[in-house]
Amino acid sequence: MTDRLPDTVAWRGELEGHLELLDQTLLPHTVEVLQLRDVAAVIDAIRRLCVRGAPAIGVAAGYGLVLGVRERRPLPNALRDCAREVAALLLAARPTAVNLQWALDRCLAALGEEPTLARLFAEACAIHADEEAMSRSIGEHGKALIRPGATVLTHCNAGRLATAGDGTALAPMFAAWRDGVRFRVFADETRPLLQGARLTALELHREGIPVQLLADGAGAGLIARGEVSLVIVGADRIARNGDFANKVGTYPLALACAAHRVPFYCAAPVSTFDMSLANGRLIPIEERDATELTTLAGRRIAPAGVGARNPAFDVTPHGLVTGFVTDVGVLQPPFDAAVKRSRVPGR
Ligand code: MRU
Repeated sequence: MTDRLPDTVAWRGELEGHLELLDQTLLPHTVEVLQLRDVAAVIDAIRRLCVRGAPAIGVAAGYGLVLGVRERRPLPNALRDCAREVAALLLAARPTAVNLQWALDRCLAALGEEPTLARLFAEACAIHADEEAMSRSIGEHGKALIRPGATVLTHCNAGRLATAGDGTALAPMFAAWRDGVRFRVFADETRPLLQGARLTALELHREGIPVQLLADGAGAGLIARGEVSLVIVGADRIARNGDFANKVGTYPLALACAAHRVPFYCAAPVSTFDMSLANGRLIPIEERDATELTTLAGRRIAPAGVGARNPAFDVTPHGLVTGFVTDVGVLQPPFDAAVKRSRVPGR
């Protein structure tokens, strides 16, 4: 397929413009772009996963902050306090992806230098451009991991729909494919919201990369049978020892890879490292509504009266990770030392 999907996140116009988000809840069947002009709409879009994926949430939050401050029209001397209030609202939208906090902190720091709406807008645009560049770098650093004839397994969606560029876990795949390397991909369907089936499969298929869906429980068995060359996943937050949170179902894949000596990589920009957290037990894990599990396409599938536990993420311990593919290079264990040596910003 050659026609491009609309941008995952876009700002139209200058300071008086508006935010556009591709509504990912409707993909792959319906392509609809949301036009957002106030922060409440941005928060709702983040909560409902119209925009999702750690880097894309960060970019959307930066623009959301611009909209929230703009609509409140604070006097110049109240602008920073106003921005802090709006940032707290955005931060509460989803707890696990640290890029949300990182982008908001970066915008608030910019206001410390120059407390104007114009400066805030410039910072939101800069975050957007930086996230695009980091995708390119992750792709370039990670593409050598994919050898001709490989079968790569991925979980959830860490592609163009999750970032401002080519993605994180999918960026090395797009880069290798552009270089003429031929391989195939297993995409976990990723229950309960099917980001793998709806989004990853869509992105890879449109690019012409052979992709087959897997039921989430199938990966370990195929890894054990030697049918998977390597696993690459994204991350929502990485503690400074290398433990990381990603979509629920990532940890079992890491266990299976360790048991069968299959390389397991996590691809993420340095903005996904949270240096304030010593280990993964401290990462806040979002719990989502039980109806995401008890219903399917709006229809109840569990017996009436049966509830569900719905953690949206799990934590993979650093000992199971072969390497982190970042925008500053591939980090090898021991990760705490590698993180210190790299340009991972402290918080
Ligand atoms: O709940 P989601 O769809 O926002 O979860 C997304 C993931 O878990 C991704 O793997 C992660 O954010 C990395 S995206 C580059």
